Amino acid sequence: MKFQLSAALMGLAATVVSAQDTQTAPFNLQIKGTNKSSKINGSSISSEYFFNYTGYNKVGNDEAGTLVWNLPYTDPNGNPASESQAMGLYFDSTSNVAAPMFGFSQFTFLVGFNSEGELFGYNYVDDSKFIAGKAPTDLTPKAYYQWAVCWQYFTGYYYQSVAWVLAGAPHNPTCEPVEITKVNIKA
Ligand SMILES: *[C@@H]1O[C@H](CO)[C@@H](O)[C@H](O)[C@H]1NC(C)=O
Ligand SMILES: *[C@@H]1O[C@H](CO)[C@@H](O)[C@H](O)[C@H]1NC(C)=O
Ligand SMILES: *[C@@H]1O[C@H](CO)[C@@H](O)[C@H](O)[C@H]1NC(C)=O
Repeated sequence: MKFQLSAALMGLAATVVSAQDTQTAPFNLQIKGTNKSSKINGSSISSEYFFNYTGYNKVGNDEAGTLVWNLPYTDPNGNPASESQAMGLYFDSTSNVAAPMFGFSQFTFLVGFNSEGELFGYNYVDDSKFIAGKAPTDLTPKAYYQWAVCWQYFTGYYYQSVAWVLAGAPHNPTCEPVEITKVNIKA
């Protein structure tokens, strides 16, 4: 079974220029259900992805940055070209399940890979620890693992794809928890 990270709505793509990014070699991603009975077992996402990072955001020793892919298109002269697009999150106002998408981001999502190659989401504030009237003092960056595969509905399409559960149990009952792992492409 194959899943996709959606690359929808490219007409609305915004180009973000960040020349100081370091970009890794391309890699594939693998998805595995974490529930014992899960049928999602090592499913691949066949596209090639890159990881862009600045060196500024880290969780421990692990860099945080953006997951990037090259959207192929045909330039006005008819030649193949591509545009580097970063993965952001697309939110639904009445759900806590967000869709990762390239080229259409309400929110650029900082992610990283831990020492086992597992993809995490990055944040340095935890509002579950907030105290009224007291600004948080612990701003330690942390890794979060809140990936799922869910049936999701966008712009008339309904399909099973990768999701990020913002917090707590997913509002969408079709979500299955998964882990996403980097797979190096053999030369
Ligand atoms: C998942 O895949 C691995 C390797 O491909 C296999 O060894 C394992 O038995 C599979 N697990 C399930 C639950 O299907
Ligand atoms: C990722 O980094 C490369 C190398 O610096 C750059 O060419 C590309 O535009 C970056 N992509 C995004 C979406 O910022
Ligand atoms: C995951 O497994 C638990 C316990 O086996 C079960 O209660 C839960 O419904 C499962 N969740 C999904 C989304 O499959």
